[in-house]
Amino acid sequence: MYNAMITKEEFQKLILQGIPDTLPEPAVYEPEINHAPIRKQILTNDEKKLAIRNALRYFPAKFHKTLAPEFKNELETYGRIYMYRFRPKYKMFARDITWFPHKSTQAAAIMLMISNNLDYAVAQHPHELITYGGNGAVFQNWAQYLLTMQYLANMTDEQTLVMYSGHPMGLYPSHKDAPRVVVTNGMVIPNYSKPDHWEKFNAMGVSQYGQMTAGSYMYIGPQGIVHGTTITVLNACRKIAKHGEGPEGRLFVTAGLGGMSGAQPKAANIAGVVSICAEINPKAANKRFEQGWVDEIIDDVDKAIDAALEWQKKKQAHSIAYLGNVVDLWERLAARGIKVDLGSDQTSLHNPWAGGYYPVGLSYEQSIEMMAHNPEKFKEAVQASLRRQVAAINKLTAKGMYFFDYGNAFLLESSRAGADIMAPNGIDFRYPSYVQDIMGPMCFDYGFGPFRWVCTSSLPEDLEVTDNLAMQVLEDIAKDAPAEISQQMRDNIRWISEAKKNKLVVGSQARILYADAEGRIKIAKAFNDAIRDGRLKQPVVLGRDHHDVSGTDSPFRETSNIYDGSKFTADMAIQNVIGDSFRGATWVSIHNGGGVGWGEVINGGFGMVLDGSPEAERRLKLMLLWDVNNGISRRSWARNEGAMFAIKRAMEEYPEMKVTVPNLADDDLINSLY
Ligand SMILES: NC(=O)c1ccc[n+]([C@@H]2O[C@H](COP(=O)([O-])OP(=O)(O)OC[C@H]3O[C@@H](n4cnc5c(N)ncnc54)[C@H](O)[C@@H]3O)[C@@H](O)[C@H]2O)c1
Repeated sequence: MYNAMITKEEFQKLILQGIPDTLPEPAVYEPEINHAPIRKQILTNDEKKLAIRNALRYFPAKFHKTLAPEFKNELETYGRIYMYRFRPKYKMFARDITWFPHKSTQAAAIMLMISNNLDYAVAQHPHELITYGGNGAVFQNWAQYLLTMQYLANMTDEQTLVMYSGHPMGLYPSHKDAPRVVVTNGMVIPNYSKPDHWEKFNAMGVSQYGQMTAGSYMYIGPQGIVHGTTITVLNACRKIAKHGEGPEGRLFVTAGLGGMSGAQPKAANIAGVVSICAEINPKAANKRFEQGWVDEIIDDVDKAIDAALEWQKKKQAHSIAYLGNVVDLWERLAARGIKVDLGSDQTSLHNPWAGGYYPVGLSYEQSIEMMAHNPEKFKEAVQASLRRQVAAINKLTAKGMYFFDYGNAFLLESSRAGADIMAPNGIDFRYPSYVQDIMGPMCFDYGFGPFRWVCTSSLPEDLEVTDNLAMQVLEDIAKDAPAEISQQMRDNIRWISEAKKNKLVVGSQARILYADAEGRIKIAKAFNDAIRDGRLKQPVVLGRDHHDVSGTDSPFRETSNIYDGSKFTADMAIQNVIGDSFRGATWVSIHNGGGVGWGEVINGGFGMVLDGSPEAERRLKLMLLWDVNNGISRRSWARNEGAMFAIKRAMEEYPEMKVTVPNLADDDLINSLY
């Protein structure tokens, strides 16, 4: 348990102390906490010695006799050394920024963001420093947390903190326009980027999986994805509507109530459909139910289906969590011949062998035991389960269901499992990814992506001020918006006008809003002005999901609608993070492996602290322009129609931006060649 009554003074003392001088009490394992799955034993005895030696580097030699056997035990029991004994006993959450001891306001804002990512209400496995996605880590161990917070508390605006996969390498002299923190996560030599390399490097304490927004401190709870999911479900409904009918009475079936996937029922309600979302882990389902993100939990598959049919008849939005395996749900829907309108899946298939996907026929506990102690058998069970899942889904799509991959590597892993998932050409998948069909052409190509902000006063009133400012800005822009983006603008205005009512905040006072470059820049400027004149009480942190226009090269997700052969390159993400860093970002991060799996994606992001100063205004204008237009340029060069339109518009607005645009070759000419 934690001490919720700590005073500001005590809290600051603990942060400034870093690694304590005397050993804290040994940790007590708390079974009521949602713990990370036990990782498989992958190290040889020599490598285990190295892992323990590595862990001891953080502590004075006087502790080593006690800690060496304790760390050995953690490694043998959990497959990782988390250093549980050093987990602070204070409650971790986005306190008001003035609580964090600091010499740099920017650094204090970063401490707030880190604390939010480790908040019990936000993080998936808080004791293992995992924020979401089963393995999305903020740090590898508690020593890294303690040291990082201490560095941040002491640093000035003339220093930069360097983070190597959760490890704070140190503070280095820089200058006030430089990023305060530069984060890299999971960067490896490309030939060493198989899932087992991650298992090994992470067990040795030398690398971590930062996911997208966990290792970059930018996770804001499932709200971050509710908006994107709402847009996706709404547009999927538009896609299947034959005569312009609305989403009312449609049935959406999917899986996962975890960190990100937990947003699905909420988004489905906002979009206006009936949904059933399967979840195998009762702790995850209950958490979402208690937070009001899903309307009810039913553990009998037929009763769950019957309840959904009733709500469909009433044409009222309602969300049902089916507590059980998603394969049982799909097979039952297929056997009963139910008409499902929309189907997807958001289990963590980017991490299929270590707790991301639970195979049918095994209980949750049996899976946990098997993945740790019989990984080969577990892999076979996962693959057999995926084959069954796809077979049932295929039966329902044959009856008219629109199925899309939800960016979790479902199609990729199903194909690797030998499921019947390939298109007749043997190259493409039978089903599109949501980026290919919806998010790419409708949003990213025009520069719309998941812009977000956090009020560091941690006051709901401040968030309300920002919501109103953002809405005014969007309404102004919408007046002259071209037809190509007017649907986007309408959806986003509706989102922000209903955001407060939809009670989306979990953890920090944060908001997500899809916006293009113009929207992001104008909203950020409005916030900066409001901080300057006191309408907002404290600075605001800007950021975004890495799942965006420019930040991520991911051939099976963000860049799946790039068709010029460049989707396996990662220049865009690297250019983005470098470009952001010298245009004024407060922190930047670049990761291997978020979203769809280790080795499958390179993704980057930024955080920017607005403090009301003219410097902040200069930085936001320069950086946000690049942060969006980099991706539009690349998408336009790939001949994506929306992006060619958007980059032309941007060049008219900013004559100093000169982008290379493609000349389109005639189809008949090309086809005549072969
Ligand atoms: N589309 C997007 O925009 C987007 C964004 C973020 C994440 N994702 C991807 O979605 C996936 C889920 O992310 P998350 O943060 O929710 O992960 P998570 O691990 O927190 O949640 C996944 C949930 O699925 C449940 N689950 C696994 N197998 C199951 C089964 N067979 N039946 C029923 N439930 C099962 C797990 O118990 C877990 O609670 C990840 O792969 C992530 O990369 C997509």
